[in-house]
Amino acid sequence: MGAGDGASAVPTVIAVASGKGGVGKTSVSINLAASLVNAGQRTLLLDTDMGLANVDVMLGLAPRFTLADVFAGRCELQDTILQGPNGLLIVPAASGKRHMTELLPQQHVGLVHAFSQLEVPLDVMVVDNAAGIADGVLTFCQAAQDVVVVVCDEPASVTDAYALIKVLSRERGVTRVQVLANQVQNPIEGRQLFEKLERVTSRFLDVTLNYLGAIPRDEWLRRAIQRQEAVVDAFPSSPSALAFRDIARRARQWQSPPGARGHVEFFLERLVARATAATSARSAAA
Ligand SMILES: Nc1ncnc2c1ncn2[C@@H]1O[C@H](COP(=O)(O)OP(=O)(O)OP(=O)(O)O)[C@@H](O)[C@H]1O
Ligand SMILES: [Mg+2]
Repeated sequence: MGAGDGASAVPTVIAVASGKGGVGKTSVSINLAASLVNAGQRTLLLDTDMGLANVDVMLGLAPRFTLADVFAGRCELQDTILQGPNGLLIVPAASGKRHMTELLPQQHVGLVHAFSQLEVPLDVMVVDNAAGIADGVLTFCQAAQDVVVVVCDEPASVTDAYALIKVLSRERGVTRVQVLANQVQNPIEGRQLFEKLERVTSRFLDVTLNYLGAIPRDEWLRRAIQRQEAVVDAFPSSPSALAFRDIARRARQWQSPPGARGHVEFFLERLVARATAATSARSAAA
C-alpha cells in the first residue's frame, strides 16, 4: 500500500469487478473505500459505471463535472473530484447516454494515465466497474494492482466471474485475483463459493485466486443505501460493516510488486510493447 509520504507515492489501485450485474460491486467499492478512509488512508473512489445506482446517487452527492466533461475538454480531471464522507474523494461516473464502456480503448488508457498524473496525494484508489467484460472493465482491472471479483450465490454469478477471470488471465496478463463473496447467509457459503470458482480456475487458468472473505446479506446495508450513506458510517456495528472493516484491513496488507513504481507504468509499457509487436508483425507480413 502507498507509503503515505506525499504526492510522490504511487497509490495502490484496487479494481472491483464481477462479470454479472447486481452482485454488489458498488456497495463493496463504497464501503471498502470508506473503511480505508476511516483507517487513515487517503482514498479516491473512481466510478466508471453510469448505471442507475452509481456511487454519487448511493452517497447523495451532486456532481458538477464528470469524466464526460474531462473527455469533452470542459474541465480537468482534478475538477471532477467530490468530497465524500470523512474526506473520501470521489470521481463520479460520466453522465448522459455515453457509457464508459463505449469509450475508445485509447481513451481508457488516457484516463488511466491521467490518474497517474493526478497531483492529489493518495494512498489508494478504488475503481468501481460496470458489469460485464467490456474493454473498459478489462483495462481498469489490468491497470490495477489488485482486482477484487465479487461473487454471490447464484449460478450466473459464478460462471460470469469465471468468464471475467478467464479474459483477465489469458488476454490481460492478470496473475492474481481477490475473490469476495457477497450477500452470504453464513461464512461457510462464502468459502464454498470461493472453492467452486477455484476448482475451475486452477484446472483451466494460470491465475492465483485469494479468498478475501465474505460480506453477509444484511438489511442494515439496504437501509444505509436508502439513507445514501456507506453502511460502515451509518451502522458501524452492523454485520456487513464489521465484515467490510475486516476486508479493508486485509487489503491494506497488499504489496505492490517489488521495485514497481505502480502498475500504471507497467500497464503502459506492456501496451506500448504490444503495439510495437503488432506493427512489426504487420510490416513483416507486408
Ligand atoms: N451484503 C448485502 N446485503 C444486502 N443487500 C445487498 C448486499 N450487497 C448488495 N445488496 C443489494 O443489492 C443491490 C445491488 O448492489 P450494487 O448496486 O452494489 O451491485 P452492483 O454489482 O454494483 O450492480 P450493477 O452491476 O448494477 O452496477 C443493492 O442495492 C442492495 O440492495
Ligand atoms: Mg454498480
